[in-house]
Amino acid sequence: MSENICTTSNQSENIANNRIIFFDSTLRDGEQIPGAAMTLTEKIKIAQQLTKMGVDVIEAGFAGSSPTDWMAIRLISEQCASEKTKICSLSRCHEKDIQASITALAPAIQKNAARIHVFVATSEKHMKTKLGKTKEEVLNMIRQGVGLAKKYVADIEFSAEDAFNSDRDFLAKCIKTAIQYGATTINLPDTVGEAAHFQYYEFIKDIIDRVQAPQHIVFSVHCHNDKGLATSNSLMGLMAGARQVECCMNGLGERAGNAALEEIAMAIQSSPNVYPFEFQLDTTKITETAHLVSALTGIKISPCKAVVGQNAFSHASGVHQDGVLKGWAQGIQGIYGAINPKSVGAQENIVITRHSGIRAVMYMMEKIGVPVSSVEATAILERIKCSGKKIISPELLVDMKQAGPIKARHIGKHVCIPIGPKMIRICAESQFSKINS
Ligand code: KIV
Ligand code: ZN
Repeated sequence: MSENICTTSNQSENIANNRIIFFDSTLRDGEQIPGAAMTLTEKIKIAQQLTKMGVDVIEAGFAGSSPTDWMAIRLISEQCASEKTKICSLSRCHEKDIQASITALAPAIQKNAARIHVFVATSEKHMKTKLGKTKEEVLNMIRQGVGLAKKYVADIEFSAEDAFNSDRDFLAKCIKTAIQYGATTINLPDTVGEAAHFQYYEFIKDIIDRVQAPQHIVFSVHCHNDKGLATSNSLMGLMAGARQVECCMNGLGERAGNAALEEIAMAIQSSPNVYPFEFQLDTTKITETAHLVSALTGIKISPCKAVVGQNAFSHASGVHQDGVLKGWAQGIQGIYGAINPKSVGAQENIVITRHSGIRAVMYMMEKIGVPVSSVEATAILERIKCSGKKIISPELLVDMKQAGPIKARHIGKHVCIPIGPKMIRICAESQFSKINS
């Protein structure tokens, strides 16, 4: 696929440069998730962490939408804007929004580290139903919005909302207009999370081909996760020639969220032959950033969430644990895993459950300072399998060792299930199970 990357004459140099710009929208699109609205202090803490992690552009909010957003953008501009990190404010093509962005971004403008992100819907459905505007009126809004923002800030991003569902000829006209009036980044969102990955690839490639933009123009992707495809679609957009990716930590965002920053970064970093891109992010900060965002937004991370979920690098089944422990003994990480946990500041770990094996029990007992023989580990494992507990803590393991092998016992009504050479009797009422050897 990489050999087929789109290379229009104007954009070819840009595309040959494989440096990806990470545009983080945790504080804007991410904050739009119900219940995630943050205080000023919380927003600043997240911005500081994003800066530490090395994102290129922080979309700090939508200055015209609330005094809290305005103030957050102002303070983040003061504290985080630098040569390495630009601060961005979202604006509709309305004078009031753009003025609010300009005043909020003032400290970043002074440091030449500000971006105004101007957007308007370009799909037939959105123009008619939401805006009540004709195509010509929307083109005029672009001229006025982008033109006004450009008077104050050099770095202007234009987004065509619902771009994926827009008429391509009209979309190309909107983009050319935005570029003519000073936009330097062109964002092509799949606002409603509709596209299949190959459709989004074709869409981005087609638009880049149609627009024939000058080399300094950067195309950007922004994908929503309604069908669980946001990360994959974003990567396809980059393969098609976009060089900015818009994303949020932990995949936060409207409805089912935006593409997750950590997933895109790690897909690229762990498969350089597939995704031949470079970026300035320090991925070892990903885990601490994910936890901070979760703590401050109050939005819990699913245990199975790729890269940052609690179980992303945990091994609970006996077969996997056996492989992982044999790997560790030979100094090899990641026998079961596509990403090196250290590269995101996490650790691979063994969790003891009723699916675990003897080797894992012995490893864990050794780790907690109570080494056991394989015979003792077998007895502990029998107790684990009969305990009904979902996860076995170190304290419980020690108790189980002290309790010794299970003795056969009858408790009320029970069913017998043969497991290997043993019979397990499960009492349906108390949900206790006992082994009858
Ligand atoms: O999803 C979207 O289209 C947006 C735009 C404002 C960029 O969030
Ligand atoms: Zn969005």
